[in-house]
Amino acid sequence: PPLSRIFNLNDFEKVARQVLSEYALAYYATGSDDEVTLGENHNAYHRVFFKPRVLVNVAQIDTSTSLLGTPTSVPFYVSAAARAKLGHEDGELAIAKGAGREDVIQMISTVASYPLDEITAVARPGQSQWFQLYVNADPEHTRSLMEKFNNTACLKGLFITVDTACLGNRETDRRGHFEELSFPVDDEGFPVRNVANSVASSLMDTGLVWDDIARFRAMTSKPIVLKGIQCVDDVLKAIDAGVDGVVLSNHGGRNLDFSPPPLQVLADLQPVLKEKGLEGKIEIFIDGGVRRGTDILKALCLGATGVGLGRPFLYSVSGYGEAGVVKAIQILKDELEISMRLLGVTKISDLTPEHVDVRQLRVA
Ligand code: FNR
Repeated sequence: PPLSRIFNLNDFEKVARQVLSEYALAYYATGSDDEVTLGENHNAYHRVFFKPRVLVNVAQIDTSTSLLGTPTSVPFYVSAAARAKLGHEDGELAIAKGAGREDVIQMISTVASYPLDEITAVARPGQSQWFQLYVNADPEHTRSLMEKFNNTACLKGLFITVDTACLGNRETDRRGHFEELSFPVDDEGFPVRNVANSVASSLMDTGLVWDDIARFRAMTSKPIVLKGIQCVDDVLKAIDAGVDGVVLSNHGGRNLDFSPPPLQVLADLQPVLKEKGLEGKIEIFIDGGVRRGTDILKALCLGATGVGLGRPFLYSVSGYGEAGVVKAIQILKDELEISMRLLGVTKISDLTPEHVDVRQLRVA
């Protein structure tokens, strides 16, 4: 269908299911084990309701904000997603261009399908991007990535992914032919065992611990965020470790099944930060299952600074390239504006816990 027939982010997913190869779809859409976390990431948003205020002057709505000190038109960003080229020839380049047009920040994956410098090269003047780092067991590999990161002006923040000591058990992937990842395969190309552990450990340093974070702090003066924090205690440890932010995330339900929906962790976090006088101490990002402007608003009400989306951008670029990315962003912007107006708020900093009812959040 033409882009004019795309009304929301779920429509992009429907199109992607038609245009993607079986292999690409399996890689993008899959979660781990029984995909309970994958589903709950989104379902949790359905258990939070608004407390709208009426008779507020909502003539002017301003969705702009600042993430890690970088001004941006919206409180959401494109999260890192590997291998965008599987869905579209232009992959991450198209995402970078679309995000740039709409003044949205794009987080670039360590395992993007284009080299980092090609993706940063298409950024327009003044456009901001972030770099997502998988810490490799080989320190030299990490050192050279950090050097690139430091020397690239448009890269405004480092997101160290900490939830992927190994890949989760992604069965849909395994049911497909996954020879690309060099699993040992049988005669017909099916993986003989789930050897994700060995595959991932060539990518990730499984020995990475809290004390190592100081090493990264010393390697850059740009903001550092830990991506993949899944409980309140670890947020407190991250604050102690001196980072600038955390992403409450379970990798889009792709790693540990039954990791809680990040929205629930966020709701649990706020009272703790308040009690300890740590509110605003670091930036709190969140991702997983965000598909609507109202989802974004709910997370912001509960204390998130910024909200990430992964799959929706892979799906939009797969179906329509750069134009799809632009359209996906515009849809979210429109949804945000409409919902803010009806909620009775005019700017992002107006959103507070008083605007949401979370009584059903923990009652599944
Ligand atoms: C991811 N994600 C991810 N995260 C990361 O830190 N580095 C990466 O390379 C990738 N790659 C990746 C590929 C694919 C296909 C998906 C779906 C996800 C996780 C991503 O950044 C984000 O945490 C989730 O995608 C958020 O969930 P939603 O928005 O997809 O529901």
